[in-house]
Amino acid sequence: MKIKQRLLKILENFKNKKILVIGDIMLDKYIWGEVSRISPEAPVQVVNVMKETYEAGGAANVANNVSALTGNAFMVGIAGNDEAKEVLLGELRKKGINTEGIFTDKDKPTTQKMRIVGRGQQLLRVDYENKGHVHKDIENSLIKFIKETIKSIDVAVISDYAKGVITEKLINELAAAAKKFGKAVIVDPKPKHSNLYSHVTLITPNNAEASEMAGLEEGSDDAVKKIGLKLLKRLNTNVLVTRGEKGMSLFEKNGSITHIPAKAKEVYSIIGAGDTVVATIALAVASGASLKDAATLANMAAGIKVGKIGTASVSIDEIKKEIENL
Ligand SMILES: Nc1ncnc2c1ncn2[C@@H]1O[C@H](COP(=O)(O)OP(=O)(O)OP(=O)(O)O)[C@@H](O)[C@H]1O
Ligand SMILES: [Mg+2]
Repeated sequence: MKIKQRLLKILENFKNKKILVIGDIMLDKYIWGEVSRISPEAPVQVVNVMKETYEAGGAANVANNVSALTGNAFMVGIAGNDEAKEVLLGELRKKGINTEGIFTDKDKPTTQKMRIVGRGQQLLRVDYENKGHVHKDIENSLIKFIKETIKSIDVAVISDYAKGVITEKLINELAAAAKKFGKAVIVDPKPKHSNLYSHVTLITPNNAEASEMAGLEEGSDDAVKKIGLKLLKRLNTNVLVTRGEKGMSLFEKNGSITHIPAKAKEVYSIIGAGDTVVATIALAVASGASLKDAATLANMAAGIKVGKIGTASVSIDEIKKEIENL
């Protein structure tokens, strides 16, 4: 089949594919206000709040992307016993994301990043987080949920921000269960955890993460090749290095190496491009795509994403247009 037809066919199959997304979820809160004076109490600006907006962030943004691309996302993670948790669950449910796999850890706050924005710029960011490991009983609940759910989903994704959800035990149990039921596991890794990801289907580090994981200097095409092959060999997994404006390079266990150039375009915001990549790959693999075709589609989706302002997600129609212009 010609590549155009093949990619369109894969894209059509995205609909209702079930993606299990496991990782550190967080709430992004924006407080928008007007600044008109300096406080009489301290030399700081006073913000008069006009509105507050929220978004599900971190690993939850992968679920947002899956949902925008017509897939069914099942979110697995933890939140605190607080108001932020209710807001976060609400944001996820608004997008049709399943939240049954989100467990409450009473000893941690819901991870939250609050930005105060005035005069069109960020004035302050306030973080609530506790990066310690989750309690053993929460870890066991997460694992139990994963084991029960894995049979009925198509592909599992780990979106690791090293904030406590992803542990060695959880990954090992996931990998074993996924293997038993023949499900692919795609990992957006954190270098700190690099020795945890062996035997998964694919890891998708960016250039800097890949270089840190491999302990090799980044830079030229040749350097990327050394890095990719070293990770592949060490972890026994396929490796997709995302390289920003240079596109991406795929290193497969069968020995094949594919460089996919980025589409040159006006870039507005690169934030979240990595989440678009893993979500698209997961849906493509769930739809029967080869890793090469999945990466090609993900590169298209990420190219569209960086051309957007703010946090807007990519749609199926936008990718379709991109394929038709091939
Ligand atoms: N400047 C750019 N021009 C074109 N495409 C880009 C650009 N930056 C990123 N992309 C696309 O987005 C993909 C992922 O970008 P990148 O390698 O920066 O991921 P990342 O650092 O993990 O992103 P994130 O900040 O979301 O974690 C790239 O492989 C490419 O397809
Ligand atoms: Mg990333």
